[in-house]
Amino acid sequence: MAAEMAKPFLKWAGGKTALLPELLKAAPKQIETYYEPFLGGGALFFALQSEGRFKNAVLSDSNRELINAYLQVRDNVEGLIRALGVHQRKYRAAEDRAEYYYTIRGKRLTCSLGGAANLIFLNKTCYNGLYRVNSKGHFNVPHGRYTNPTICDEANLRAASEALQGVELQVADFAVGPSSAGQGDFVYFDPPYVPLSETAHFTSYTANDFGMDEQERLAAAASNLAHRGTAVALSNSGHQDVAALYREPCFDLAQVKVRRNINSKAAERGVVPEYLIRSG
Ligand SMILES: C[S@@+](CC[C@H](N)C(=O)[O-])C[C@H]1O[C@@H](n2cnc3c(N)ncnc32)[C@H](O)[C@@H]1O
Repeated sequence: MAAEMAKPFLKWAGGKTALLPELLKAAPKQIETYYEPFLGGGALFFALQSEGRFKNAVLSDSNRELINAYLQVRDNVEGLIRALGVHQRKYRAAEDRAEYYYTIRGKRLTCSLGGAANLIFLNKTCYNGLYRVNSKGHFNVPHGRYTNPTICDEANLRAASEALQGVELQVADFAVGPSSAGQGDFVYFDPPYVPLSETAHFTSYTANDFGMDEQERLAAAASNLAHRGTAVALSNSGHQDVAALYREPCFDLAQVKVRRNINSKAAERGVVPEYLIRSG
């Protein structure tokens, strides 16, 4: 058990903190292996871990720089803390913080200790704490204006490292990560959401867009797992197309109201309906 309860060490668009109480109710009390194939900030992983609800965990995401950050937290947390400490000192002392931010943003995010430190630094100092890349795969979020952001939260990084010991981390497509799940296991899918408005670009987490064909492939993967007896939960926006995708009797759909602040579109900020889908 970690000395401090670990929380997500990254802020991620679509972070699940607001939906967490519902998700904790939806999850089985005892889980053999927990799978989170759209990892992002991993809010449900950290919450289930602190309650000791699973024996094993397999966490995956298609974003390799993100998975690299988790690997560095798991395997090299003291080195990471030192590298983030350097960023924190330099950033706070910089005459022009924006200039320091853009210098780091201009570097390619590599899958290394330095790459993980740069990713966490950018996440803590960028506008709204978003992860967004352009079509060339470059991180392109502007500088944020926080007075004194905590760039290196040592206690939480150590707690997260402890929570991640023994956990399997994979760069994988959502259908591959949980492919060996069976009875007694639990899979939570938190995909990029179906946008509520035409102009909402909340789906651009990676260079590849997550369109309706991907949503259909996801519904098929969730249905396969449910038919094999794996417990499945999935969150998505309150769009009618989502309801249409999960009409099968093996699914139970509930609408939940969630407060969302990170969105450039006013229509998708504030209290918005979302679907919480569970295998019945
Ligand atoms: C909504 S976010 C996850 C939020 C996260 N669960 C949390 O609590 O903060 C969606 C994630 O899906 C990942 N992703 C997008 N397409 C994917 C795919 N085909 N397979 C696996 N992951 C994918 C993105 O890299 C992003 O991290």
